[in-house]
Amino acid sequence: MRLKRALRATVTLAGAGVLTAAMMVSLAPTASAGTTLRASAAEKGRYFGAAVATGKLSTSTYVNVLNREFNSVVAENEMKWDATEPQQGRFSYTGGDRLVSHAQANGMSVRGHALLWHAQQPSWAQGMSGSALRNAAINHVTQVATHFRGKIYAWDVVNEAFADGGSGGRRDSNLQRTGNDWIEAAFRAARAADPGAKLCYNDYNTDGINAKSTGIYNMVRDFKSRGVPIDCVGFQSHLGTTLAGDYQANLQRFADLGVDVQITELDVMTGGNQANIYGAVTRACLAVSRCTGITVWGVRDCDSWRGSDNALLFDCNGNKKSAFDAVLNALNSGTPIPTTPPPNPTTPPPGQVGCSASVSVNSWTGGFVATVKVTAGSAGTRGWNVNLTLPSGASVTNTWSATASGSSGSVRFTNVSYNGQLAPGQVTEFGFQGNGSATGLTPICAAS
Ligand code: G3I
Repeated sequence: MRLKRALRATVTLAGAGVLTAAMMVSLAPTASAGTTLRASAAEKGRYFGAAVATGKLSTSTYVNVLNREFNSVVAENEMKWDATEPQQGRFSYTGGDRLVSHAQANGMSVRGHALLWHAQQPSWAQGMSGSALRNAAINHVTQVATHFRGKIYAWDVVNEAFADGGSGGRRDSNLQRTGNDWIEAAFRAARAADPGAKLCYNDYNTDGINAKSTGIYNMVRDFKSRGVPIDCVGFQSHLGTTLAGDYQANLQRFADLGVDVQITELDVMTGGNQANIYGAVTRACLAVSRCTGITVWGVRDCDSWRGSDNALLFDCNGNKKSAFDAVLNALNSGTPIPTTPPPNPTTPPPGQVGCSASVSVNSWTGGFVATVKVTAGSAGTRGWNVNLTLPSGASVTNTWSATASGSSGSVRFTNVSYNGQLAPGQVTEFGFQGNGSATGLTPICAAS
């Protein structure tokens, strides 16, 4: 990505000031005494992460700050396509495995970055096109997500696929030229390979409501309506000297689609406003209950890809900057994620409409992923539920695009807010992961 472009899509700091004041009024601070980013974020049900270059894990200043302050990591480069598949079909996981081990030894979760991206492709892939590239790309997703299966909290399945500027459309790339459905194909392959990982779309210059973020918003809405497995959207947030006044509103509109949101690559231009912007971004995340965490793109200023911008929370000696204090204070006064979801305020009116359901199961020894297709009858649906009886010994461990009631024996899956209402004949999908085997499932669909 180009930094200048990333920094261009900002509004004045007056906007940030308005945002800050508005959020301070609307929050109900809770007493908290965290002194590290990781402890204070955890108290609010969030993670606080950093991008890591594994080559620096032997530098004591670096690793001391990392282990003390962060409870999530992402590989700055080591899980990208050029690093993990330098030659076609030959996979290299040395750096990624090292980071996962470090995370596991230090109580950190891992974000995976990034399965497919137009940049940092190995040279063999750069020279490919058409179905050969599509097949290679999907194989890459499958292999890498399978290797790290069970170890990744969230994968950036696709990174930076939308164009800058006002089009709101896709970026041209060799991947895009394989067909517009390359993104959903990648998400489906990632789900099949690691059903427990949250699957994210990640991009930059999306730090407010603008043409690019709206293009992504429309894609996510479409994916949710068609049952394409997407769980989260990452907002990189490589920021300049101002913050969009609608930064929080933009996060919220994505959350309202039924996906988590995460701040994935935060760094901010140095200067008088740096601490204010860091604080405002943190408050915005905490004010959105589906904002599950924040990652800064590096540990110390001298670790940053932004060079002399001094864009991070610690100086090169590992000292805390005022930006650190702003983030910590914001974390300590922010809103915890509610432990119980708020009640649904609307009761769908009953109607005599029908639906049908079919299920396909992807199994391996000891586990399975089931994808259930729900088709509305001739009257459409206002809501639906699907009953399934699991074989003895099988149990549901994870569900997406539906809510499960029960986990073994007879299990009822009910629509979530965004996929209950279906037009006549419209199809939506939900899925679940389970232990044991799931043969002979017969879904029974009921509509309201
Ligand atoms: O490792 C080689 C080294 O062997 C070689 O001598 C040197 C010579 O240039 O290059 C080294 O690789 C560099 C690598 O960083 C590791 O330092 C690459 O040239 C350089 O291009 C690469 O830059 C990374 C950049 O992505 C690539 O586009 C940055 O570290 C990384 O911070 C940056 O991260 C991206 C996110 O993935 C996506 N969002 C934007 C973000 C910032 O650009």
